[in-house]
Amino acid sequence: MGFKSVEEELSPEFLKRLDPVEIHGIPLHKGTAERWHLISEFKAQPDDLVISSYPKSGTTWIQEIVDMIRHGGDPQKCGKSPIYKRMPFLEMPHAAVSYMEEIETMPSPRTIKTHLPVQLLPPSFWEQNCKVIYMARNPKDNVLSYFHFHRMNQTYPDPVTWDHFLENFLAGKVLWGSWFDHVHGWWAAKDHHPILYLFYEDMKEDPGREIQKVATFLGFESPEPVVNKIIQQTTFESMKANPMTNYSTLPSFILDQTVTPFMRKGIVGDWKEYFTVAQSEKLDYIYAQLLGNSGLIFRTQL
Ligand code: A3P
Repeated sequence: MGFKSVEEELSPEFLKRLDPVEIHGIPLHKGTAERWHLISEFKAQPDDLVISSYPKSGTTWIQEIVDMIRHGGDPQKCGKSPIYKRMPFLEMPHAAVSYMEEIETMPSPRTIKTHLPVQLLPPSFWEQNCKVIYMARNPKDNVLSYFHFHRMNQTYPDPVTWDHFLENFLAGKVLWGSWFDHVHGWWAAKDHHPILYLFYEDMKEDPGREIQKVATFLGFESPEPVVNKIIQQTTFESMKANPMTNYSTLPSFILDQTVTPFMRKGIVGDWKEYFTVAQSEKLDYIYAQLLGNSGLIFRTQL
């Protein structure tokens, strides 16, 4: 991909906190909604890889792991440009119209990041039978991370307070919609598409095992020394210190890292610092109602 400055690639009208706009009933960023006609018509190629997730599930982590696998664990090759350049964000909220052309002209094999719920993925990805890696995270840590991200992302709706944001999240009234529908929709889709469904908690527990899974899914050999190198280079600490993965290359009028860093804590169980007992029970109740019979099981502590 060519190198333009971030400012050149952005549409200034979307660089502020705006109310979401619904597309097929899903609240999306206004900047995404305005380009929806281009996004939904995106022409996939059979060797495209999709990395999909609900926001703040560890997307950047799995992106870097995939790039490392593709480059045999060589940090020099992965460190040439920020992760969002190496693997563009399909529905990037503040992109200019030309952004779609830029993705279309990327050399193959392309890896494309999306947070779209399964029913909104452009049909071409299904028609071309593209592989998908889906990353899921337990809802309590996921919503907490999303709350902090809304505080620092100056182009997302104001989260107001933790209590307010949590209520909106539980009602699916946040960008990219209901977490419950998202994780379930992609879970069901894996029965009829090549989807590798991963869990953030499993990655924390045993990154080597999960890296092996990803490598096998992508058709790569994964000798132990390479896996060990990838583990080291994709620890939370390494990625926090790496400007190519920590989003410090984006200007503060988009991500204000003085509010809270993009690489914030990277742990399982931080939710306990924020949730009241009543909030935790409410989420558990909604989970049981909506996903109790889904077969999906999340761990909220290790
Ligand atoms: P926290 O806010 O809980 O720290 P995404 O990439 O989908 O936006 O997800 C960001 C979340 O993943 C943040 O969670 C971030 O710290 C965490 N994360 C990113 N890289 C990580 C890594 N290498 N190990 C563990 N967590 C990581």
